[in-house]
Amino acid sequence: MKLLFLDQSGKPGGAELCLIDIAKPYRDRSLVGLFVDGPFKSLLEQHQIPVTVFATQPITVRKSSNLFQGLGSLKQLIPLLIEVVKTARNYDLIYANTQKALVIGALASFFSRRPLVYHLHDILSKEHFSKTNRQIAVTLANRFASLVIANSQASQTAFVTAGGKPNITTVVYNGFHPQTYQIDASTVQELQQQLGLQGQFIVGHFSRLAPWKGQHILITALAQCPPEVTAILVGDALFGEQDYVQQLHQQVVALGLENRVKFLGFRADIPQLMAACNLIAHTSTSPEPFGRVIVEAMLSGTPVVAAKAGGAMELVEHGVNGFLVTPGEPQELAQVITTCLMETENSKNIANHARFTASQRFDVKNINQQISQLLKQWEINIQK
Ligand code: UDP
Ligand code: GLC
Repeated sequence: MKLLFLDQSGKPGGAELCLIDIAKPYRDRSLVGLFVDGPFKSLLEQHQIPVTVFATQPITVRKSSNLFQGLGSLKQLIPLLIEVVKTARNYDLIYANTQKALVIGALASFFSRRPLVYHLHDILSKEHFSKTNRQIAVTLANRFASLVIANSQASQTAFVTAGGKPNITTVVYNGFHPQTYQIDASTVQELQQQLGLQGQFIVGHFSRLAPWKGQHILITALAQCPPEVTAILVGDALFGEQDYVQQLHQQVVALGLENRVKFLGFRADIPQLMAACNLIAHTSTSPEPFGRVIVEAMLSGTPVVAAKAGGAMELVEHGVNGFLVTPGEPQELAQVITTCLMETENSKNIANHARFTASQRFDVKNINQQISQLLKQWEINIQK
């Protein structure tokens, strides 16, 4: 089966990193079509996954756009659609990986008469999307998609609540390569030295800088923790959240935490950095659809504390394989950090258990098998 994957982004967010693992087994008979150029294209090339950029101009419609703004972007969509339809005729199936890819993919599926699969990486709720965008996603998926793969039960439930057909949805978690997260002690020491963090209790935050990812919650919590607790913020503003970045820097200065917070920007050495941390904090203030960083923290053998909402609740069981705190409550977070600092043995045991279970539950081999079976099953259904 020849697959045409569509993704709107030129930057490697979680949905794009997940797509690399999904597209890889099909790389001899697939193409990833992006709607904008950027580092994600190079990353796909590094993995020898065929990739093309369909449009050179980014589409201006946003998650919060209303119908009028959406219609205004039609001018940009038509040339893109024409290119996608032409290309789709050489493939058996269109696999849309993002919302704008769903819009183009649905129309292309209609015009090229190719079936559509939609990989839903988002929680279609009002915290994340305007009403218009939710309606567009659900209507197009219901009408054109043969299968909706949700990245968590939370995403699946929100889809159905927004009016999505339950019988076309299924849940498949993101897959990971557990061996990538086995880092030797000398690398960890070297990295801690390079970062000037030896002897500190390092709390890592790994996420793009965006208000709903809640880096400000960790900074507020840090001010309530003992002075040996230091934070590293790994990630960059991928989608233009420059005001938030400025706010974070101002917050650090206002709280006098300049020596205890390091902004490392976007990094490619996530497993090494995670291994160098004593605790990893996930602090999203809106429900996280899945939360790759939570699973990656577990695979690294570093204790993880996550915000109790959305997909994170399917990944973490409090006190068993990590810790959960109320989203947007820095005081609660500070308490967990301080407890982990004091009770290192307990949190290490929890982290070891998490590493073992996560490496089985999220092994990319099993996840890819699930996807392959779904596509095969679905191919049989279509042909019937
Ligand atoms: N990530 C990265 N470099 C960074 C920060 C994050 O490669 O500097 C990766 C991180 O390891 C994770 C992904 O970006 O795999 C983020 O995915 P997640 O599902 O946690 O959140 P998203 O940004 O997709 O909402
Ligand atoms: C999206 C979600 C994130 C999820 C990722 C991979 O980017 O925001 O929670 O982990 O997709 O499915």
